[in-house]
Amino acid sequence: MSSLTPASPDLNRWLQANDVLPTAFAERKALMPMWGAQMVPPTAWPAITQRILSTPIKPSTLAYFHIPFCANRCVFCGFYRNAWQSKHGAPYVDRLIAELEFEASQRPTGGSINAVYFGGGTPTALSEADLCRLLAAVQRTLPLTDDCEITIEGRISHFSLAKAQACLAAGANRISIGVQSFDSQLRRRLGRQHSGDDAAAYLRELCSQTDAVIVADLMFGLPGQDDAKWAHDLDVALSLGLSGLDLYAFNCFPTLPINRMLEKGALPPLPSLATQNRHYAYAVRRLIDAGWTQLSNSHFSNPNPRPNRRERNRYNQAIKSGQDCLAFGSGAGGCHAGYSYQVQGNLDDYLATPLDQKPIAFLAGTSPQKQAFGLIQGALEAGEFARSLFAPYPILLQQLQLWQQQGLLTISQDQITLSIAGRFWAPTLIRELAQLISPPKEEQCPPHSQHPHSAMQNKKPQSVSA
Ligand SMILES: C[S@@+](CC[C@H](N)C(=O)[O-])C[C@H]1O[C@@H](n2cnc3c(N)ncnc32)[C@H](O)[C@@H]1O
Ligand code: SF4
Repeated sequence: MSSLTPASPDLNRWLQANDVLPTAFAERKALMPMWGAQMVPPTAWPAITQRILSTPIKPSTLAYFHIPFCANRCVFCGFYRNAWQSKHGAPYVDRLIAELEFEASQRPTGGSINAVYFGGGTPTALSEADLCRLLAAVQRTLPLTDDCEITIEGRISHFSLAKAQACLAAGANRISIGVQSFDSQLRRRLGRQHSGDDAAAYLRELCSQTDAVIVADLMFGLPGQDDAKWAHDLDVALSLGLSGLDLYAFNCFPTLPINRMLEKGALPPLPSLATQNRHYAYAVRRLIDAGWTQLSNSHFSNPNPRPNRRERNRYNQAIKSGQDCLAFGSGAGGCHAGYSYQVQGNLDDYLATPLDQKPIAFLAGTSPQKQAFGLIQGALEAGEFARSLFAPYPILLQQLQLWQQQGLLTISQDQITLSIAGRFWAPTLIRELAQLISPPKEEQCPPHSQHPHSAMQNKKPQSVSA
């Protein structure tokens, strides 16, 4: 295949049969967070919280820390919770460290944590001193494995290269930067503060200066994002020396501020489902052609020559497979000891909770089908998986065979592999399979987790509707 340049964005000539099947389903819709979970009445919360805290953790558990502040609200984003002011940082980190220490005092020994994720919001908005003391507290209070992946998520605003280096020196080993697009006009419209060139220059420098894993998020399906803009985004991303790249389909759910701008005509319209599918397929082919590896439907790794900059993507892959996760910080969602829980999302209530209490805002017993959901989600997110995994579920294999006829996947004797279109439609495939083993019921989730980016899910931006 020849190289595509920004001057010739003929995406179609890169595509092959079954790369684009835009009419396979009416909508691209993900499974609701906590599908099938059984709500626990608030009267039982204290006893169950104590049970969660005093149950030993399993080997390879995850830990998630939520930093619910943003310097501004980006119009496309459903994660925004609280306006960032530097005065918020120290009291919030004090409370977070107290939460960590309280849990450590209750937790029996044993088990291990092999991936830690600081997500948001914007963890990188915290000061260098607060980030470093939080990293130190994590290493002091949690049983981390020697090779634990420790990710800090954020954006380039308020994250100087010196601050990034300080985080790495303090124990982080992976930085995930949200870029969304390198197109300056589009970025401005979305509420991003720096130009595309600034974002690219920052990432190029960060990749050349550090020995850590550096990954970036791009989105497709944004308003006015045409073939040339998308081809340019990928060209730039490929030129930076990144360890990994996330490609997220923009999920325009109704409560986002961007809807008002679209209604008023203040933004160009959203690309069609067919264009989104074509852009996704083009990106997959473009990255594979450049020698990258597809680790999951949305995540790619660069075969980087420097071994300690090699991407593992451990947290994201494990959380999708239903691995247990301890949650800390206002709005974080966790799962342990057979329960899913959410930490108090109201910041004032979170900060006011006595230091010897876990600030719980919601509790549910995990679904009896949790293991099967984890299997479905983990396998379909990976995009290829052993056929034997589904042997205990003939009803699911039957459905997979029907999708094979549509070109969404291929089934060989041992292996099931999604086509590129199948990977694009994976959120819908996962949802349909989960519903086959656990039909829809009312009241399956708390009201605050009904949108796809709820912190209940901790970083699983899947598109829900086109
Ligand atoms: C939790 S957000 C944090 C990003 C970081 N604070 C920033 O400003 O870049 C993580 C990622 O979710 C993705 N995301 C946010 N809103 C989304 C949406 N409506 N649809 C799909 N992905 C979205 C973006 O790619 C973003 O980088
Ligand atoms: S993209 Fe990042 S900074 Fe912007 S609102 Fe979402 S979480 Fe906050």
